[in-house]
Amino acid sequence: MAAQPKWFPPGADCDANQAELFGRDLEEHFELPERLADKSASLVEAVNDFHYAMLNDHERNEFYRRALAEQIQPSDIVLEIGTGSGLLAMLAAKAGARHVYAIEANRHMAQLAQHIISVNGLADRITVINALSTEVTVEHLGGQRADALVSEILGTLLLGESALQYISDARERLLKPDARIIPAGGRQLISLVESEDIKSITSVQSWGDLDLRAFNVLQDTVSLVFTKQYGFRFSSTKHKMIVSKATVADVDFHTDGEGALPLEMTVELTAECDGRVDAVLTYWEAYDSREKTSVMSTEPSATEGNFARDMQWGQAIQLVEEATETGPQPFHVKKGDKLELVVRFSEDSAVMQFSLQRA
Ligand SMILES: C[S@@+](CC[C@H](N)C(=O)[O-])C[C@H]1O[C@@H](n2cnc3c(N)ncnc32)[C@H](O)[C@@H]1O
Repeated sequence: MAAQPKWFPPGADCDANQAELFGRDLEEHFELPERLADKSASLVEAVNDFHYAMLNDHERNEFYRRALAEQIQPSDIVLEIGTGSGLLAMLAAKAGARHVYAIEANRHMAQLAQHIISVNGLADRITVINALSTEVTVEHLGGQRADALVSEILGTLLLGESALQYISDARERLLKPDARIIPAGGRQLISLVESEDIKSITSVQSWGDLDLRAFNVLQDTVSLVFTKQYGFRFSSTKHKMIVSKATVADVDFHTDGEGALPLEMTVELTAECDGRVDAVLTYWEAYDSREKTSVMSTEPSATEGNFARDMQWGQAIQLVEEATETGPQPFHVKKGDKLELVVRFSEDSAVMQFSLQRA
């Protein structure tokens, strides 16, 4: 593959058993259950941070169950990148796959997946490979390329966990040329939003007759911050859409790879109502197949009834400023105003940054 991704799965310790152990920061008289004492800190943190919520996102599980049931043939060898608990590998086996090779970078996770697969009576149909996907070769797959690839290595940003690199690497080295890839692709989307709630936790105006606005000189308007880092569900905030939805990246996992997205591009937008643009909101859609029969989305309106999805993926926001010499000012717009959103991708497409300007 061209270059190693910069993002690695938390606790990817398959060939370096020196990961820092969970509980390293606990004082000696604090309790630490035996079952956690030999586990890597990043593994336990990742599982408790999002794996449980992810596994309880039943709409997510159903999206994969249906896609696998519709696309897997009885003769298929299926490859999974990042099996975690083994759930998707088991769904692929239940969908009728001849054999499933389930890759997992974390050794404890791989052992757990193996155990859970045995508990479910599927051990003869699934082989767990404890490695980073980029280290797996066709020899690990019994000398043959796979007919289908399934993965759920999507982050709060569609490509935030280097899905483009890992999937294209597997596609080129480990899949047959016409292999099905689930999800087949997706769109990274944005909205421009006004939100008094967000403004109230990211800037300050005045208290009584005291003007505090100079404090906003420290406001961060360059970082894309996950809503779960702020600790709120976007759908629970009071907000107004100034631009309701625009695409900033359209990705096809059957063809795209490293370098598919530009480092910088400009998207033309039109304000749909009068208001103030406080933030760029990001979310995504992923498709089961190239026909886009079924869609999985992190759009706030689509996750209102799905607490687990908001808690594991959520959305991301970057604050917007009207740059002035005295510091950031509110970005006011009138309905019909033409705007330009400059979108920057990191070299590995995993990180994004925005700048809003008037056209
Ligand atoms: C978001 S979880 C999904 C787990 C499971 N597939 C599911 O959908 O329930 C991603 C898992 O993939 C693993 N992972 C991510 N990228 C990987 C890669 N390139 N190679 C091997 N494992 C990877 C992580 O360690 C993690 O366990």
